[in-house]
Amino acid sequence: MIIAIDGPAGAGKSTIAKILAQKLGFLYIDTGAMYRALTLKVIEKGLPVDDLNGIIHLAKQTKIELLHDSCTAELKVLLDGNDVSKSIRETRVTKFVSDVAKIKEVREIMLGLQRKLGLSTNSILDGRDIGTVVFPDAQKKIFLDANFQERTLRRYKELKDSGYPVSLQEIENDLSNRDKIDSTRETAPLKKADDAILVDTTSLSIDQVVDKILNILNSPNE
Ligand code: CDP
Repeated sequence: MIIAIDGPAGAGKSTIAKILAQKLGFLYIDTGAMYRALTLKVIEKGLPVDDLNGIIHLAKQTKIELLHDSCTAELKVLLDGNDVSKSIRETRVTKFVSDVAKIKEVREIMLGLQRKLGLSTNSILDGRDIGTVVFPDAQKKIFLDANFQERTLRRYKELKDSGYPVSLQEIENDLSNRDKIDSTRETAPLKKADDAILVDTTSLSIDQVVDKILNILNSPNE
């Protein structure tokens, strides 16, 4: 079974998907982490983000793996065998990830990886195009959203708590820039699948969102 969770940054996708995966015993696949890992490599190789051919060439020679620690439920992201779980969250990566993720050929490579992983077992995937492109036949599709101010505050708090120094203004700029690129790109733009259920998390706690989605998953009609 495949559960697709899509939505913009800061809507709570990864937090919720991780909890649901643990509760249901599903594999959690953070598709954004894959785009982030490739973006980190692009930056470290010194490639400009408009060097499409260079980035596509690099993507073809890149190995990205998601490893799960069943004890801690933490996800490890390996880039060519190296653990990059922390560095892919840095601002320098976040700033350019949408430019890398909008490249069609890059998306084709990631799509193959995501489908293979997802089909290996019961899986819950979070991203932007899971319900529309990666798994259009997913049994359950959720589109998580929240208003811009709430998403900004959540991301600000998350980064501050993890020790990444950022200002609220920087987060606002980043989210609006990524929202724009992600939802207007030609290939697999961020958008709610027609058959996805919209969950607005603006005024809900994490537990409330989890309960709401569990109800949706348990209801045969949705
Ligand atoms: O956690 P956050 O919402 O900030 O972003 P993410 O899920 O880590 O995704 C980072 C970026 O990867 C997004 O802004 C998109 O540009 C891209 N992405 C995508 O294009 N398609 C996906 N399925 C997942 C992420």
